[in-house]
Amino acid sequence: MTLSPSIQAALENHRPGYSLPACLYNDKSVFQNDIDNFLMPGWIYACHQSELDSVGSYVLLEVAGESVIVVRATEEKIQAHMNVCRHRGSRVCLEKQGATRKFVCPYHSWVYGLDGALMVSREMPSNFDQSEHGLKPVQLSIVQGLVFINFDSRAIPLDEVAKPVESSLAFYQIEDAKVAYQQTWNVEANWKLALENFMECYHCAPAHPEYARGHSLKLPGRISQKLYPPFNSRCQELGIPYESVWSKDSVDPLLGIYHHRQPLLDGYVTGTEDGKPVAPLLGKMPGYDGGAADIALGLFCYGLIYADHVVIYSFLPIDEQSTDMKIVWLVRGDAEEGRDYDINRLSWLWRVTTDADKTIILNNQLGVNSRFYEPGPYSEMEEYTQFFVDWYVESLKRG
Ligand code: FES
Ligand code: FE
Repeated sequence: MTLSPSIQAALENHRPGYSLPACLYNDKSVFQNDIDNFLMPGWIYACHQSELDSVGSYVLLEVAGESVIVVRATEEKIQAHMNVCRHRGSRVCLEKQGATRKFVCPYHSWVYGLDGALMVSREMPSNFDQSEHGLKPVQLSIVQGLVFINFDSRAIPLDEVAKPVESSLAFYQIEDAKVAYQQTWNVEANWKLALENFMECYHCAPAHPEYARGHSLKLPGRISQKLYPPFNSRCQELGIPYESVWSKDSVDPLLGIYHHRQPLLDGYVTGTEDGKPVAPLLGKMPGYDGGAADIALGLFCYGLIYADHVVIYSFLPIDEQSTDMKIVWLVRGDAEEGRDYDINRLSWLWRVTTDADKTIILNNQLGVNSRFYEPGPYSEMEEYTQFFVDWYVESLKRG
């Protein structure tokens, strides 16, 4: 897709270290171009494998007007198909999740198997070949039980890209975890504003007093030197992975992979209102280390791994001024609700934090839409955001 001359000019005029010109945050053609350039070739979180616990169980992933069926096709295999009928294009599956033995298109009842193959099509001409009309496949990759899809069949599988962080992630045994709770926040703002906000903690002190009580607001390199050495040696003693693994400099952020365990603040051993434990320890965690790992799995999925639960944060662009932010709380697979954890306590911190984020991101979009908006300079605490924005502009300029 070619961008109009005025948008090309806005790109050329972008000042590194400054936020983007308004058209890059609110123009329809820019959004379509973003979808082609960043979303289609990017890995998108779909679900945790425990949500597909029996053959035929499925979830729908909806993003940028597309709908993908992610289904356990056999005991061993999870597959993804485009939710677009090969007859005349109707959505085939309408329920957001469920279990089935086959997918029957609600329009003219073509029937597809769990593997996407077309099994039944009524009264078609004799030369019609069913085998050529299966649901279109979507690439799928599973990293430690987290299921991702990619619309581009040529994309490097995420589990290959994620190799550098695999041993760190394996420690928490996320593949044996289960979803305790999930919630989606829709924010009427461009996906880049939502991501920019997530990537910086300059706003955390004013916007997230609850989060700021237990989490350091500084960039990892600048966290008080008092906090790190004792934390690192504690992790070392306990055998907990803590070193930073970051592909930022060598790999495109579209495939950006990151793991780094950081100390929480005094009195906090996990991400709860009072900092006290909220669920059984994850995987091989021998105890509460007073830390949390930040992870990134591609451009659209991030997470925080506390000692006793995981928070997965997924960004799903919907249109030029609408983005879904989906949060998933994972706990040990054998934990029992009511006995081992309480959903309200478990999800409290990131619910209040995301409620606040939704408001500030929306206000950001409203201001950007003003005819008086002009790009402003990032602070030192916004260096990841700045890196993302500069990378975005350079990617668009390269075409
Ligand atoms: Fe699906 Fe006709 S559109 S059967
Ligand atoms: Fe925030």
